Amino acid sequence: MYLSHLSLTDFRIFSRFDQDIPKNALILVGDNAQGKTSLLEAVYYLAALDSFQASSLSELINFSALQNDLAVCRIVAEYQKGKTNHTLEIRIIRDKLSNGNSSIRKEVLLDGNQQKINSIIGHFNAVLFLPHMLQIATGPPQLRRHYLNLALSQVDPQYTESLSDFNKALTQRNALLKQLSERSGDLDQLSYWDEKITQAGSYLMHARIQAIRDLGLLAASIHQELTKGEEILRLNYLPSYEPMPSPPGQIELPLDNPVDRSSIGLPDIQEGFREKLHSRRMDDINRGVTTLGPHRDDLQFISNGVNLGSFGSRGQLRTTMIAIKLAEVAWLKENTGHWPVLLLDEVLAELDDFRRQDLLERLANTEQALLTTTDLGLFSDDFQRSAVKWFIHNGQLAG
Ligand SMILES: Nc1ncnc2c1ncn2[C@@H]1O[C@H](COP(=O)(O)OP(=O)(O)O)[C@@H](O)[C@H]1O
Ligand SMILES: [Mg+2]
Repeated sequence: MYLSHLSLTDFRIFSRFDQDIPKNALILVGDNAQGKTSLLEAVYYLAALDSFQASSLSELINFSALQNDLAVCRIVAEYQKGKTNHTLEIRIIRDKLSNGNSSIRKEVLLDGNQQKINSIIGHFNAVLFLPHMLQIATGPPQLRRHYLNLALSQVDPQYTESLSDFNKALTQRNALLKQLSERSGDLDQLSYWDEKITQAGSYLMHARIQAIRDLGLLAASIHQELTKGEEILRLNYLPSYEPMPSPPGQIELPLDNPVDRSSIGLPDIQEGFREKLHSRRMDDINRGVTTLGPHRDDLQFISNGVNLGSFGSRGQLRTTMIAIKLAEVAWLKENTGHWPVLLLDEVLAELDDFRRQDLLERLANTEQALLTTTDLGLFSDDFQRSAVKWFIHNGQLAG
């Protein structure tokens, strides 16, 4: 698929931006703090309805627009998916209330019709690479779960639903556990929330098992090429609830040989998870929180048997994340039937010549790629000739 038109109103530094987008490679060139990353963020927002950057929705609204009582930020995109053209409009609306508080909400329109947010995630597909995404490997586990959730939500609407159900049920169950730990609350109600957690949580785990295996295989082969065969990358899922029965006396598997759980069916995960959740009840009540489930999952990136999250050099992490992102492109294509738009923020800057050239050649395989740079000199002459260049200055197209 490809984006043919993008219009931004009061999105971050862009008070007004309205442009046709070229189909192949587009290089956004500009000094720091001119809006290049924000433009990629806007395009990614169309796919995930979530930002990898912003900690609150209001951050996305232009500062001066926020001065008004009613502030509306708009991302409107036209894109072609297969043979069909679509228009997707996202509005973020911040209202000041008479009591001095404010409310903020999102509205989404697909082809002119208002839709539920969850049903729109993944209608448009994009893969985003930001330099600080190296933290996916090195940072806290919630970043890896967030990464998995964003990727999976784009390919599987039921994942999005299950995630939303799970989070609601988890909040309710934790509130009830707290009451029970203070000797109030209704124990019968716990069974109700346990079942919700079991249903939604098992779906998440099952989907994560398959996705991590598939993404892992794709990433490993790209990574092997990027490292000229010197390193072998593995993705290792560390589920909070282990659905694999471990044979007695089994010693821990070596790091470069992750457990293959892909043959376990959803009903088996449900049955085992339900039982384990139940057996942890007293513990959960004592602690006042749910101690088992996909909200505590983790994922490791292993190269030649070493956990990159703890021991990876910056170069290794960068190569790994590029492999993962290119794998995500292929994985989205396999699962949705469409090429996602690839969004690469400042990726070339820290790569050596070989990897830089290799990456640029790989972009020829995607339908559309948007790249940012402060230094056009990093792009080969050939690539520059095949791409369109935009110079971005202070939230506007210059020259
Ligand atoms: N909500 C907002 N309103 C106005 N400006 C913003 C908003 N959020 C961020 N900015 C500003 O936008 C500028 C551009 O950011 P960014 O897209 O990261 O630039 P670049 O990638 O070109 O370095 C920054 O100076 C930042 O302060
Ligand atoms: Mg930037």
